[in-house]
Amino acid sequence: MNVLVVEDEAGAREALVELVKELGYEASAAGSVAEAGEAFSRKGPDVCITDLGLPDGDGLDVVRAARASGRDCAVLVLTGRGSIRAAVDAMKAGAHDFLLKPVKTAQLAAALALLSGRHEEARDLPPAALPDPAVAGGLAGMVGRSAPMLELFRLLVRVARSNAPVMITGESGTGKEVAASTVHLLSRRAARPFVAVNCGAISPALVESELFGHERGAFTGADRRRAGTFEMAHGGTLFLDEVTEMPPGLQVKFLRVLETRTFRRVGGSEELDMDVRLVASSNRDLAEAVRRETFRPDLFYRLNVFPLRLPPLRERREDVPLLAAHFLAQIEEKERRGFSSFEGRSLEALSGHDWPGNVRELKNAVHRAYVLSDPPAIQAEAAEAVLTDSGSAESRPAEEGEGAWPAVPVRVGETLGAVEKKLLKATLLAVKGDKRVAAELLGVSLKTIYNKLREYQLES
Ligand SMILES: Nc1ncnc2c1ncn2[C@@H]1O[C@H](COP(=O)(O)OP(=O)(O)OP(=O)(O)O)[C@@H](O)[C@H]1O
Ligand SMILES: [Mg+2]
Repeated sequence: MNVLVVEDEAGAREALVELVKELGYEASAAGSVAEAGEAFSRKGPDVCITDLGLPDGDGLDVVRAARASGRDCAVLVLTGRGSIRAAVDAMKAGAHDFLLKPVKTAQLAAALALLSGRHEEARDLPPAALPDPAVAGGLAGMVGRSAPMLELFRLLVRVARSNAPVMITGESGTGKEVAASTVHLLSRRAARPFVAVNCGAISPALVESELFGHERGAFTGADRRRAGTFEMAHGGTLFLDEVTEMPPGLQVKFLRVLETRTFRRVGGSEELDMDVRLVASSNRDLAEAVRRETFRPDLFYRLNVFPLRLPPLRERREDVPLLAAHFLAQIEEKERRGFSSFEGRSLEALSGHDWPGNVRELKNAVHRAYVLSDPPAIQAEAAEAVLTDSGSAESRPAEEGEGAWPAVPVRVGETLGAVEKKLLKATLLAVKGDKRVAAELLGVSLKTIYNKLREYQLES
């Protein structure tokens, strides 16, 4: 994998190039947007790490240059604590992720490893080369070996190769978002962006500019042109999470874009082509929403071309040990306390549970049991203890040993927006501002966290 480092300050640039090489990747360097543009057209790097402030432009310009080159190059933006907002803007314009300065070796290693995995996958995954999920115990990042999951994987591989809109339904926590990203990863669009929109969370006032972007001067405060969701996802996959929550006005606008396959930025006259693969999800019965007339039938039929249903965990108990082991390995990877297995009785306890919160609940339960057990195995007592109080928010696991999570008071009659804002604030406080951990706990993407922070003006 070839990594291009874009940084104008020579010392920092060389240090970063060295670091990238030490991590085992090829590295090249550029000192300005112009040089980066040249590098894109000449060498075609697979990953670009760019500083935000450059002599002839900013990180956003580098993101655009990468896209303009037509190469599948993932851009990582370097940012200081003070300029997170600019980094978020870069992400909105298509940057893959950002790294906080000063860059820590482990952080960079993780980001590059992730991209190199994706890079290999995108290139070396002719359909026939996919390992058999029954043997591998899963498909791409999705764990499972039960009959209903093997059937799902079969459909998923097939649908991933097509360009058809996919509708994923399933109870909360069954893995709808993982399934959506797996569809993307196995598709020909894998190297292009996967962009998730939470349809219930976009503020009505901003909805058009969120989706379609806006031109500079389109409205007060629009001090520069901004790409919307459709533009960000161009060439890739647009994930419409909780699609039943889409407000009626937005449904109409959406339908129009799907019909014409074009859209315009707010305040703009240029017709832009829409080139996204749509994957929608809902934990409600969409047909029921159509019957109740809260969801437009014409939009339903357009989105529901290829339905995939994720079975609840209680219908695939055989997967519980496999999933539990997967989550244990994940936690151990981070915390390294020396756990390698489950006591037999603890797995029995986990397999017997009903899992109303499905895989997410299992993941949390494994984490709590991890906290309560002594290495090397998760003890039966710990598993039983976490199942007894499963579901009470206060007993959720402490990430990196920070103690039980605090509660957030909620009154009947409060708006969902107000409650969401409170919860978001309290969660961020509890995890000391680490937005990745907050996103994980709240079960949303990092992008959603940033969108909401902006929406509620919690950070400027
Ligand atoms: N088959 C699976 N293999 C590995 N991890 C999984 C699997 N299914 C779910 N997970 C994990 O469980 C958690 C919940 O999954 P996800 O967010 O995809 O669920 P969801 O159906 O979108 O939930 P919600 O309806 O609440 O949005 C995530 O941390 C995800 O990584
Ligand atoms: Mg989800």
